[in-house]
Formats: sequence, C-alpha cells, structure tokens
Amino acid sequence: MNEFKMDQERIRQEARANIDKGPITASYGGDAERVVQVCNQALASEIVCVLRYKRHYFTAAGLNSNEVAAEFLEHANSEQEHADMLAQRIVQLGGDPDLDPANLATRSVTDYDSVAGLREMITEDLVAERVVISTYTEIIRWLGEADPTTRRIFESLLADEEEHADDLQSLLERVS
Ligand SMILES: [Fe+2]
Ligand SMILES: [Fe+2]
Repeated sequence: MNEFKMDQERIRQEARANIDKGPITASYGGDAERVVQVCNQALASEIVCVLRYKRHYFTAAGLNSNEVAAEFLEHANSEQEHADMLAQRIVQLGGDPDLDPANLATRSVTDYDSVAGLREMITEDLVAERVVISTYTEIIRWLGEADPTTRRIFESLLADEEEHADDLQSLLERVS
C-alpha cells in the first residue's frame, strides 16, 4: 500500500471553486452524465416492474390466490423503493429523474406483460428479475471505484432482486 498523502490546500480550493455542483467534487471519478443516464434507465425499469407487479397483485387477488398476491404486492413496494433511491441519486448527481410515461417502456430493460395465468405471471416476473440481476451486476462492475455511492445503491438493489428471484422460484415450484 502506498503512503496516503493529503493535499489539503488543493482539496480546499477545489471544494470552494465548484460549489454549485453540490456533492460532486473534483475527486469524483465517474462520468456523472453517463451515470445519470444509466440510473435513468434503471429507474424506468423499476417503474415498469412496479406496474407489472401491481397488475399481477390485483389479478392474482381476483383469482383467489392470496399467498401469491401478497408476494406480488411485497415486490411491487420493494421496486417502488428502488425507483425512489435511484431518483434521489440522480438528483444528487445533478440530473433529472425521467418519469415521463412516454419514455418508460422504451428505456426499461424489463417488459410489461399481459399474461393471464398465475404460473405465467410468476414466470414473467422471474424473467424480469433475472434481466435486472444481470444488468445491475454489469453496472456494478462498470462503476467499480469511480462512484462508490451509486455502486452501493446498485449493490443493495441487486441483493433485493436476487431475493425476489429466489421467492419467485419457490412460488413457481409450489404453484406447479
Ligand atoms: Fe428493483
Ligand atoms: Fe425485483
């Protein structure tokens, strides 16, 4: 390990120079604009997931499948929390959270579906979870050490998505 040298004079000057950038300092190692784009794509995906799980929740409740419906609702709420975390981070990075409904479906990495059966709904959700798991894993690798805060957000989302996929796999086994 190299010796840690702290250039307090330079850091203080830089901190004062770009005060309009808020939390983004000269030490920020990412491309903030690109990170905002990537976060907006993830935000669109999370919103589509909320909507997909909500439809599944109400449909499954109508089919008298309360246990499955409860799981769908729990996931919908979790995806909404993910969307909120991403929107908050986008603002910190100086960007605008894009919640324009016209752009959501085109930017989302996951699909909205119209399947009717319980088993089909669980399958679609599991596929969507697996798509976000792969996507977030690659985003985390790409962020590396450049933006530890955004990386930690994606790491926490990834852990939740893996739990969702695991829940769905168990449900699928029970429903069949
Ligand atoms: Fe999510
Ligand atoms: Fe999820």
